[in-house]
Amino acid sequence: MKPAIVVRGLTKAFKENSVLKGVDFTVDRGTIFALLGSNGAGKTTTINILTTLMTADGGEAAVNGFDVTKEAERVRQSISLTGQFAAVDDMLSARENLELIGDLRHVTDSAKTATDLLKEFDLVDAADRRVVTFSGGMRRRLDIAMSLIGSPAIIFLDEPTTGLDPEARNKMWQTIQALAKRGTTVFLTTQYLEEADELADTIALLHQGTIVAKGTSAELKKLVPGGLIKLTFPGESQFKAAQAVLKKDYAVTSGDDLTLTITTDGSVTHLVELFVRLRDAKLEPTNFSQQIPTLDDVFFKLTGSTKEEN
Ligand SMILES: Nc1ncnc2c1ncn2[C@@H]1O[C@H](COP(=O)(O)OP(=O)(O)OP(=O)(O)O)[C@@H](O)[C@H]1O
Ligand SMILES: [Mg+2]
Repeated sequence: MKPAIVVRGLTKAFKENSVLKGVDFTVDRGTIFALLGSNGAGKTTTINILTTLMTADGGEAAVNGFDVTKEAERVRQSISLTGQFAAVDDMLSARENLELIGDLRHVTDSAKTATDLLKEFDLVDAADRRVVTFSGGMRRRLDIAMSLIGSPAIIFLDEPTTGLDPEARNKMWQTIQALAKRGTTVFLTTQYLEEADELADTIALLHQGTIVAKGTSAELKKLVPGGLIKLTFPGESQFKAAQAVLKKDYAVTSGDDLTLTITTDGSVTHLVELFVRLRDAKLEPTNFSQQIPTLDDVFFKLTGSTKEEN
C-alpha cells in the first residue's frame, strides 16, 4: 500500500518571503503525524498545499496516492480538513451542523450519522443547543466530528488544541487517538512539543523552510545528550571522595548541597560503569536522579530557541 502522504522537495514563496524551501516527509497509513513548528514556520501553508487550497511553486506532493495538482479532485475526496479556525455554523445546533454536512456529502443516513457522532464526541447533552453557546472545546470537538462525515481516509487538523484549556486539550487528545484507532491517518500541526510527544507516531520539525528533524519522539530525544545524573552524598568526605573518583572519566559539576551532576550518554552501560566505580570506592549516594531529555531540549538544540521565545 502506498503511504498516505508523500512530500518531496516542496517549495512555496509569498513574493520574496520563501516559506517552504524543499520540504520532504512521508506519512504512513493509519498513523498520527505531527508537523511541529513555531508561529509562521509554514505549517498552515503546508496543509493548504496538501489539501489543494493552494498550489506549491515546486516539488511534489501525493495524498492518498493522488497528485495534489494533477488529481486535486481525487485528493479532495480522500481527505477532510479541520482548519485553524473552527468552521461550524453558530446559528445552527450541533445536530443541524452535522446533518447539513452529511447531506452535502451525500451520506445515506445523515440523521443517524449525526446521532452516532454526537455520542462519540460527547455532545449528546448539547446536541440541540445553538453552537453559539458552546465552549471552545465543544466547538473543536464538533468541528472534528463534522470533518469525519463520509469517513475520509486522511484527516488534517491544523492546531487542533490551540486555545483550549488543559482539560479540553486532554479530551481532544483522546479524540485524536480514537481517530487513529479507527484506521484514519491523522496529519496535525502543533506548536506544542508535549502534544507532538503525547500523540504522534512520527514528528517532523519544520524550521526556516525545511524539515530539520523527523522521527519518533524517542528518536528525536536521542539527538540531545542522554541526560544528566544527579547524585547526593551523606557527608563532605563521601562527596569529596566521589568527586575525585568520578572526575577522572566523567564531566562532573558539583553543587553546594553535596550533589554531583554527571553528564552521561544515557546508555545502560554508561550508568552501570558509573555505579560500579562508586561501589568499588565504597561510596553510597543517598539520592540519585536522572534528568531525561525532553522534546524541548531537541527543539532548542535544532532551532537555537526555546518555544517560549517563539
Ligand atoms: N496567503 C499568504 N500571502 C502572503 N504571505 C503568506 C500567506 N500565507 C502565509 N503567508 C506567510 O507565510 C509564512 C508562513 O505562514 P503559515 O500560516 O504557513 O505559518 P504557520 O506555521 O501556520 O504559523 P501559525 O503557527 O501562526 O499558524 C508567514 O510568514 C506568513 O506571513
Ligand atoms: Mg497556522
